Amino acid sequence: MNKLILLAFGVIFCFTAINAQKLENEAKVEALLAKMTLEEKIGQMNQYSGFFDATGPAPKDENNKLKYEHIKTGMVGSMLNVRGVKQVREMQKLAVEGSRLGIPIIFALDVIHGHKTISPIPLAEAASWDLEAIKQSAKTAAIEASAEGLNWTFAPMVDISRDPRWGRVMEGAGEDPYLGSKIATARVTGFQGDDLSKENTIAACAKHFAGYGFIESGKDYNKADVGTSTLYNIILPPFKAAVDAHVATFMNSFNELNGIPATGDKFLQRDILKGKWNYSGFVVSDWDSIGEMEEHGFAKDGKHAAEIAANAGSDMDMESYVYLNHLKDLVAEGKVDVKLIDDAVRRILRTKYALGLFDDPYRYCDEAREKKMIRHADHEAAALDLAKKSIVLLKNENNLLPLAKSGEKITVIGTLADDKTSPLGNWRLASDDETAVSLIEALKARKGNEITFVAGPKLLEKSPMFHENSAVNTTDRTGFDEAVAAAKNAETVIMVLGEHGMQSGEGRSRANIDLPGLQQELLEAVYAVNSNVILVLSNGRPLAITWAAENVPAILETWQLGTQSGHAIAAVLYGDYNPSGKLPMTFPRHVGQIPIYYNYKSTGRPGPKWEVFWSRYTDETNAPLYPFGFGLSYTSFDYKDLKINVKDKEVEVSVTVTNTGKVAGEEVAQLYIRDRVASVTRPVKELKGFEKFALKAGESKTVNFTLTGKECGFFNNQGKFIIEAGDFDVMVGGSSAKGVTGKFTLK
Ligand code: NOJ
Repeated sequence: MNKLILLAFGVIFCFTAINAQKLENEAKVEALLAKMTLEEKIGQMNQYSGFFDATGPAPKDENNKLKYEHIKTGMVGSMLNVRGVKQVREMQKLAVEGSRLGIPIIFALDVIHGHKTISPIPLAEAASWDLEAIKQSAKTAAIEASAEGLNWTFAPMVDISRDPRWGRVMEGAGEDPYLGSKIATARVTGFQGDDLSKENTIAACAKHFAGYGFIESGKDYNKADVGTSTLYNIILPPFKAAVDAHVATFMNSFNELNGIPATGDKFLQRDILKGKWNYSGFVVSDWDSIGEMEEHGFAKDGKHAAEIAANAGSDMDMESYVYLNHLKDLVAEGKVDVKLIDDAVRRILRTKYALGLFDDPYRYCDEAREKKMIRHADHEAAALDLAKKSIVLLKNENNLLPLAKSGEKITVIGTLADDKTSPLGNWRLASDDETAVSLIEALKARKGNEITFVAGPKLLEKSPMFHENSAVNTTDRTGFDEAVAAAKNAETVIMVLGEHGMQSGEGRSRANIDLPGLQQELLEAVYAVNSNVILVLSNGRPLAITWAAENVPAILETWQLGTQSGHAIAAVLYGDYNPSGKLPMTFPRHVGQIPIYYNYKSTGRPGPKWEVFWSRYTDETNAPLYPFGFGLSYTSFDYKDLKINVKDKEVEVSVTVTNTGKVAGEEVAQLYIRDRVASVTRPVKELKGFEKFALKAGESKTVNFTLTGKECGFFNNQGKFIIEAGDFDVMVGGSSAKGVTGKFTLK
C-alpha cells in the first residue's frame, strides 16, 4: 500500500514538473517572439535541405553558400539531410553564434526504420503485431540518430493504404486503422520517450496529412478522392492517435484531397488538426509541396502558393523557398495576417524549447556518444528480435518447414539470397551499403546441412536507385540453366525471390505486382524438376504470387528485414524461432482486384446469389490470396468457448485459445466486430482488439477483450463520433478470415 501511495505521489510529481516546465517554456517562447523581426520569424518557417539531395528533386543548389549565409542571418529554422556530429555542430554554430538572436536549428532526417542499425521496413514491423518490439525499434533508431546530431525524424508515416501498387506501403503499417493507430502510438512514444529534451530522444512527425495512402491507381503523388466516411473512419484515426501520443510535429502531403492540395488545405490543418484536435505542435510541408501547388493548378505562382499554405496552416516550408521569398510582402499586402505567422513561429519555437535546444544547442553533438551508440550490440539484438517476429509463414504443406538441422542437401537459388544491401530496404539514408547479413551468410554459418548456392539470372540490369523500372533484367538469362540443373540434384530447394529493397518506397509505384523480371519463369522451371521448393519472399509490398501459392509447398514472407535479415530468416527456416507474424495488408490474387482489403462494405448484392447479377468479377474470385491478419505457425491454435457479456457501458469478450500442436509458439488473437445496421453503413468486419501471446504445446489461455463505445461507435459524415444501439457480430480468431463467432446487442 505504501508503495502504491509513493507511486501515486511520484506520478503526480512528474506531471506537475512537466506542466511547470511547459508553462515556463511558453513564457520563454512569448518573450523571444516579442524580440523577433518579421524577417526572423519568417526565417524560422524556412527549412533547407543539406547538400545531398537523395530525398527530393532539389534544384542543384548553385547557391549552397547562400544557405550558409541564410543560417547566419537567422533565415533558417531547420535543416534536413545534414547528419554527423561534426557537420551538425558546425552548422548549429553558425546559427547560434552567427545570427542576431542565436536561435538554434532543428536537424531532421528520414529516420524511418532504424538509423545505422537498420530494422525491418515498417510494413514488416507491422506484421509482428508486437507493439513493444515496434516501440523499441523506434527507440533504438532515436538513440542512434540523436547520437549523430539529429533531433527530428520524419516518421512515423501513418498513412493507411489499400493499394500495394503504391511503393510507399513499405513505409506504413498497412491497411487497418485500428492496428495503424496502435502502431502510430508505439512508434511516436518510441522516438520521443517520455521527455523530448533528453539527448537520446528525438521529435517524431506524423505524416502525410492526409489522404496520401489513397492516391488514385497507386501512382505516387496522384490525387485522392475520398468520401467523408472513409476520411473520418479510416484515414484520420492513426493521425489522431499520434496527436494523443503527443507527437511533436506533423507533415502535410503532396497529394490533393478532393480537389484541394493537402498543403493548402485549411479544413485539414486549421479546422481539424489545430482546431478540433487542439494540436499544439507544428506542421512542416512535404518537399516543395507548397511550390508544387502551382503545378496542381491551385496557385498561380510561388507567391500565391505561399499565401495559400500559410493561411491553411502549413507552418514550415520544406525546400520550396516561397515563404522566404514572399511572406514578408504578403503580410505587408494584408494577405497573410501576422497573427498566423506568430502562431506558426510559436509552434516551432515551442518544439525547440521542448527539445532542450535553447538550454544547450549542442545537446545532440557528442562525439563520444556518437562512437559508442552507432550500431551498438543492443540495437543489433533488438533489430534481430523484431526481424524474426516480422516474418510471416504463408504456406507449409506437409510440414516442409522447419528444415532438418543436418544431413540435407539444400540448394539456394536467387540473387537476393546473397544480397547484403537489398534487405536494408528503402529509407535507409544513414546506413551503409553491404551491411546486412545475407541469407547465404547466415545459412553457411550454420553447420549440419550441405548448402549450395546458385544465383541464377540477375534481378536487375542497373542500380534501382534512379532506374527502378528499366532496371529489371528481363533478357539476360545467364545462370538460368545452371540454377535449374542445381535444383535437380538437391533434396530441398530454397528460392529467394521478390523485389530489390529499392523497388519500393517513394516514387516507386508498380503497375504489376508479380515477381519482377525472369523470376516467375525461373520458379516454374525449378519447380518442374524439383517440387520440394521453399519460396522465401523478399519484398516491400504485397505481391500477387498466385501461381506460387497454388503450387509451391512452402512460402515464407520475409519483406526486407534490415541489418540482421539473414540471421532472422535462417532462425525461422531452422525452427529456432517459430514464425508468429500476421499480414498487416491483404495479398491480392490479381492486380485487378486492387483496392482489396478485409474491412470492405457489403453491397446490395453481396452474393453469391444469382447466376450473374451480384458483386464480383467474372474472371477472378472476390477472395484475396492471403487475407489481412493471416499467418501460420509451426504449431496450430484452436479457438473455442467464445463468451460475450454485455455490461452497462462495456462488452466483455473472452475466448480460450489452445496450442494444439507439438511445439511452443506465439499467436495473435484478433477480435473483429460488425455493426449490422447503422445510419452510415459499416464494414463487414473491423478489427477492434488483438493480443499476442506465447503458448507451450498443449497449453491454453483465456484471452479477454473489452469493447467500449470507442470501439463500437463510428464517425458520421459530419465527422461526429456516434454510438448507435443495435446488433453486432463478433469474431475472434487467428486471421480476419476465420474465427469463433457470436453476437451482442447494444442498448
Ligand atoms: C518527401 C517524402 O514524401 C517525405 O515523406 C519525406 O519526409 C521528405 N521527402 C523529406 O525527405
